[in-house]
Amino acid sequence: MNRLVSLPLYHQTSRPMLKFLVALTLSTSIVASLSTTAPPSSPATVEVSAPTTGPSKLTGKTPALGWNTWNAYGCSISESLVIAAANQFISLGLKQAGYQYINIDDCWSEKDRDNTTQRIVPDSTKFANGIDSVAAQVHDLGLQIGIYSDAGTNTCAGYPGSLGYESIDAATFNDWGIDYLKYDNCHVPSNWTDSATPPDGDWYNSNSAIRYRRMTGALAAQSRPVQFSLCIWGRANVWGWGARVGHSWRISGDANASWAYITSIININVGILDAVTFYAHNDMDMMEIGNGNLTIEEERTHFAVWAFLKSPILLGTDLSKLSAAQLAIITNAELIAFHQDPLVGAPAKPFNTTPTSPATTPPEYYTGESSKGTHVFIINLSDVADTKVFDFANLPGLGDGTYMLCDMWIGAPVAGGPFTGSFSVSVAAHDTAAFLVTPYNG
Ligand SMILES: *[C@@H]1O[C@H](CO)[C@@H](O)[C@H](O)[C@H]1NC(C)=O
Ligand SMILES: *[C@@H]1O[C@H](CO)[C@@H](O)[C@H](O)[C@H]1NC(C)=O
Ligand SMILES: *[C@@H]1O[C@H](CO)[C@@H](O)[C@H](O)[C@H]1NC(C)=O
Ligand SMILES: *[C@@H]1O[C@H](CO)[C@@H](O)[C@H](O)[C@H]1NC(C)=O
Ligand SMILES: *[C@@H]1O[C@H](CO)[C@@H](O)[C@H](O)[C@H]1NC(C)=O
Repeated sequence: MNRLVSLPLYHQTSRPMLKFLVALTLSTSIVASLSTTAPPSSPATVEVSAPTTGPSKLTGKTPALGWNTWNAYGCSISESLVIAAANQFISLGLKQAGYQYINIDDCWSEKDRDNTTQRIVPDSTKFANGIDSVAAQVHDLGLQIGIYSDAGTNTCAGYPGSLGYESIDAATFNDWGIDYLKYDNCHVPSNWTDSATPPDGDWYNSNSAIRYRRMTGALAAQSRPVQFSLCIWGRANVWGWGARVGHSWRISGDANASWAYITSIININVGILDAVTFYAHNDMDMMEIGNGNLTIEEERTHFAVWAFLKSPILLGTDLSKLSAAQLAIITNAELIAFHQDPLVGAPAKPFNTTPTSPATTPPEYYTGESSKGTHVFIINLSDVADTKVFDFANLPGLGDGTYMLCDMWIGAPVAGGPFTGSFSVSVAAHDTAAFLVTPYNG
């Protein structure tokens, strides 16, 4: 996440140049740093005290499953691309697998608010029929729709932000039928940033948190429940207060389609997994399956880990280009059932296979509970041949004994069972094995 603050030289970049960079090269969060000291605008309304209202309990209990425009299309979005993705949710079986959200990211509006109403205006070319029309079409397919704004004066790509306009924008989104809001962290006036721990030591009272709390309060005043996604890049100790403000929160900078990103974000998340429960999800950022040069094994790990750590899973590619193998990964019923479990909110967590097992970064062995029982997930990070083994006695909640294993990838028992004492398995390079472990009763 430090790279977010490492580009001050570009601070003077003009807006057209910024837009060019955004569209062609940079991720949203990098651009953020270009302008965090932009001069404050004159907010239309400023609330005197920060709202303490929490996020809606009518949505966001389990982590979001959906799709977002950004990783696939950046700023080059349109009504037809969004509606195409919604239709692909039906035709590719994604809706049936549990995917719900069709989310529009940055660059959907005009650069200026309506002079009279102060409302954000949809781009008259990209969304010629308005966002409400897209929302109605998405709803007609039995899906939900998300939009994007920013807890600053402008979005990362320079469109109107919601700081100071929270009530107006929340009402606009409500009128359009919006179900989900991703709220970014760009163009924050300097007096709204945090240079030190807040005086009372509680980051819930930081300027950063208060910018997000203002929108939580504005959303709560509307009739529709909105799932609120805090795109705060792991700033301001967000895992300590995020659940009081939204349903999920980004824990670092933007994703990219590389194995280095996958291992780095897992490593960040394993230190803060105690924050994850129902209505409270560490967001490892949107999916890169279908993008870049990830191997199919790396894509399996990408999906499996996002599922077993209960991150939101928002697909980020042109769905029409997914292979059958990629579709099989993202519709895996056992992993989605773990991710969406209605009775267990906790994620899987690392466990030690033996008291002296070598530590890896990130850990390779995880275990967690679902309604079905105890699960074990094993990532193969290593480039050296090594047998992956665990003793049942080291699994919390189980003990030494005899067990059947179900391979979650294929939804079938592991051949050669039952297994007594321990289990060993070969895992392909950068792949992840996933099992349900159940006591064997003869
Ligand atoms: C809104 O105000 C801006 C800036 O004053 C002006 O350039 C623009 O023409 C106005 N738009 C309308 C529709 O009146
Ligand atoms: C920052 O300055 C603006 C404009 O003067 C003001 O409305 C806002 O309340 C200030 N924010 C904080 C956190 O003091
Ligand atoms: C991808 O993310 C990793 C981990 O954060 C980072 O080291 C790498 O530089 C990023 N690559 C690109 C092309 O941004
Ligand atoms: C994928 O690999 C090709 C060939 O090695 C390379 O040119 C390209 O930059 C890579 N793309 C990404 C996104 O890493
Ligand atoms: C894990 O991947 C490495 C690298 O390809 C491979 O050499 C090793 O055999 C794999 N580990 C297991 C247990 O299969």
